Amino acid sequence: AETLPLSGRHMVVTSGPTHEPIDPVRYLANRSSGKQGHAIAAAASAAGAKVTLVSGPVNLPDPADVTMIHVETAAEMLLAVTEALPADVAIMSAAVADWRVASEGQQKIKKDGSGAPPSLNLVENPDILATIGHHESLRPSLLIGFAAETQNLLENAKGKLERKRADWIVANDVSPETGIMGGDRNTVRIVSADGVEDWPALDKTEVARRLVSRIATHIGPAKS
Ligand code: C5P
Repeated sequence: AETLPLSGRHMVVTSGPTHEPIDPVRYLANRSSGKQGHAIAAAASAAGAKVTLVSGPVNLPDPADVTMIHVETAAEMLLAVTEALPADVAIMSAAVADWRVASEGQQKIKKDGSGAPPSLNLVENPDILATIGHHESLRPSLLIGFAAETQNLLENAKGKLERKRADWIVANDVSPETGIMGGDRNTVRIVSADGVEDWPALDKTEVARRLVSRIATHIGPAKS
């Protein structure tokens, strides 16, 4: 068979938002569309990798030729990622909710007539990227995270590289005026121990192709 740039390699990709339940009919979420993560999974598969895509709720078709795992919450995503490992590469492009509601209501919360709103008690979610980054046996040899920021982009990206033990951080400015969140285009900077690489504004599918090509240059196909 033809050897493709990532033949024999296993890649785990996370994508989309997570939904954190408040009660049976309500949830906390964010504006992630999953477009970038899904495009990465599709590009990696086209490059010959065996891809496991773990996605939160999105309005996108499942990419062709990937093993798809649909989840809702951050806790479910962490479990699915852990079960999908080991892998040669993991790319955490999901916009995981930082917090979840401490105790999910078993019944729909009702107005009590007093005019006083209920208060939501939030607790921090597990950080999937950091958990994998610090894991002795499950950590892939190439671990890539994203940093979606509205300010201090490079500083925050470099902090994440260290704190989460990622090898590369794909940093993007998601200020509303950029239109990146939910949009089709993305302007990213690749932050690694070697420095910072600025990429021009590109379609998310092209960002995915370039990222996969950079990965292939870094690790290549599996030795057979
Ligand atoms: O939310 P934050 O900007 O810290 O996310 C940076 C990176 O960490 C992203 O790659 C994201 O997928 C990952 N992350 C995660 N689990 C979380 C929060 C973030 O894997 N709970």
